[in-house]
Amino acid sequence: MTFIVLEDCIKCKYTDCVEVCPVDCFHEGPNFLVIDPDECIDCTLCEPECPIEAIVSEDDVPDDQQEFIALNAELSREWPVITEQKDALPDADDWAGKQGKLKDLKR
Ligand code: SF4
Ligand code: F3S
Repeated sequence: MTFIVLEDCIKCKYTDCVEVCPVDCFHEGPNFLVIDPDECIDCTLCEPECPIEAIVSEDDVPDDQQEFIALNAELSREWPVITEQKDALPDADDWAGKQGKLKDLKR
């Protein structure tokens, strides 16, 4: 079992989540974070930290976002680990809650 970062994080990246992870499994890309499924210990600590509820348990991934399970695994192998909170993206508040952001994902 792992937790998954969903589409809501794209173009927001608030990074509150990284501070609480005991095993440093968040990886950072230009405008999105992912969780390494091989490192996640299913502790649940990160889920309530995200201000826009972009993190869910693998079992709770919505049907229309199932591709994010594989995407978290794939990108966590490519992107560096992030362990400290940083400023959210400049227009994060404008993009919070918007749908259809997968096309804007930068790798
Ligand atoms: Fe890290 Fe725990 Fe969240 Fe997994 S559930 S990503 S171990 S904080
Ligand atoms: Fe993304 Fe939420 Fe973390 S927006 S960076 S999952 S706090």
